[in-house]
Amino acid sequence: MMITDSQLRPTPPPTGVAVLEVESEPESIKAARDFVADWFTEHEYDGDLVYLARTVVTELATNAHRHGSANGDPITTRVFHTDAGPVIEVLDASAKLPSVEPLTLDGLTGRGLAMVDLMVPAWGFARLQEGGKVVWALLRAHA
Ligand SMILES: Nc1ncnc2c1ncn2[C@@H]1O[C@H](COP(=O)(O)OP(=O)(O)OP(=O)(O)O)[C@@H](O)[C@H]1O
Ligand SMILES: [Mg+2]
Repeated sequence: MMITDSQLRPTPPPTGVAVLEVESEPESIKAARDFVADWFTEHEYDGDLVYLARTVVTELATNAHRHGSANGDPITTRVFHTDAGPVIEVLDASAKLPSVEPLTLDGLTGRGLAMVDLMVPAWGFARLQEGGKVVWALLRAHA
């Protein structure tokens, strides 16, 4: 389910948010993936969920790099627990929001967020007061 109401963005706990900030470059995608995979592994989520988390953050970080930043702009990845399940957030400095278009058979792009939508119970995006935006995904606690 895509959620565009920023009020419905999952609330991070006061402590226990893991944060990775990198400069936008192709390697930032792997950095975000490894960071998230390590967090899910350390918190003893099962292998299927670690795999899912890797896939989700790869799509969000690829988008932040490709669509939401110029080289060197910050990309921030955050992970935390909520009562509903673990949440992955990717923040970038661009105010441009994701746009999910209907899939076409011959399109070569526009698949990433559609795939995320199938994999998680809820995801969404919101502009940030400090500028830029966040794209977030709530994962089921069990894959
Ligand atoms: N972080 C972002 N910043 C700005 N625009 C974004 C961001 N993420 C997505 N978008 C916009 O939403 C569209 C859909 O994203 P999506 O990931 O589904 O497709 P894609 O990145 O174009 O292709 P694919 O992921 O299949 O390689 C993008 O084409 C882009 O226009
Ligand atoms: Mg994409």
